[in-house]
Amino acid sequence: MDRPYTIINVAVTADGKIDTFERKGSAISSKRDKERVDEMRAAADGILVGGKTLLEEQPRLTVKSEALREGRIQRGLSPNPIKVGMATIADIPLDSDFIKAGPARVVIFTTSRTSIRQLETLRVQGVDVFVDDAPRVDLNKMMTTLKKIGVNHLMVEGGGTMNFELIRLGLVDELAMYIAPMIFGGVNSPTLADGPGIPRDAAIELKLMDVEKWEDGGVFLRYKF
Ligand SMILES: NC(=O)c1ccc[n+]([C@@H]2O[C@H](COP(=O)([O-])OP(=O)(O)OC[C@H]3O[C@@H](n4cnc5c(N)ncnc54)[C@H](OP(=O)(O)O)[C@@H]3O)[C@@H](O)[C@H]2O)c1
Repeated sequence: MDRPYTIINVAVTADGKIDTFERKGSAISSKRDKERVDEMRAAADGILVGGKTLLEEQPRLTVKSEALREGRIQRGLSPNPIKVGMATIADIPLDSDFIKAGPARVVIFTTSRTSIRQLETLRVQGVDVFVDDAPRVDLNKMMTTLKKIGVNHLMVEGGGTMNFELIRLGLVDELAMYIAPMIFGGVNSPTLADGPGIPRDAAIELKLMDVEKWEDGGVFLRYKF
């Protein structure tokens, strides 16, 4: 395979939302789910976030548990996986947690709509920047590049627009999903796969691999594509 083995990880409400209509990165995961996510991060070579999530939330994407970071070091790895951001215009502030929290290699995939000045500023900060001369980031090419730079296992942490596009292009192998016992509602609240959608006869089928009922009232599901 000339792309990483790719798992989308997501926390959804019982009504399938990954955030409220306010789109401020609402907490959905329980304590146990946060621990599971941290373990999944520690097992990945890279963690990918989409443009809106990157620019509006500027996530740290580091492994929180010291023991898990230590475990990576014991395995001859860096303490944190590579942080991967993709955005049409990569106007991410240099003092953001995404750039600064680490130590971690930071890679950004963007387009020529990002100013040359910003591209240079990112590179001076040590960020590896890949630029497509296209209206949006070429996700197929991004995946091939990630494999080439050593990402064999990629964890994807949203949001819904990028998730859908990756799924539509057949670039995802697994879906890991924590369903929290709560409802957000809202026709404009994001879901795990947004974008334009596809008709019923093109529906992407999943194989259910695992179901766990948790004491916090949530359910953990694992699907294979
Ligand atoms: N609960 C969870 O597990 C979880 C995890 C992550 C995020 N979230 C939530 O998800 C929401 C953000 O999701 P989102 O759907 O608005 O944005 P997103 O998926 O984070 O980013 C999508 C943006 O990436 C850019 N992009 C560039 N090339 C692209 C391509 N080839 N295909 C698709 N997008 C491309 C586009 O920006 P342009 O439109 O500027 O071109 C697009 O709008 C937030 O509310 C966040 O809190 C929830």
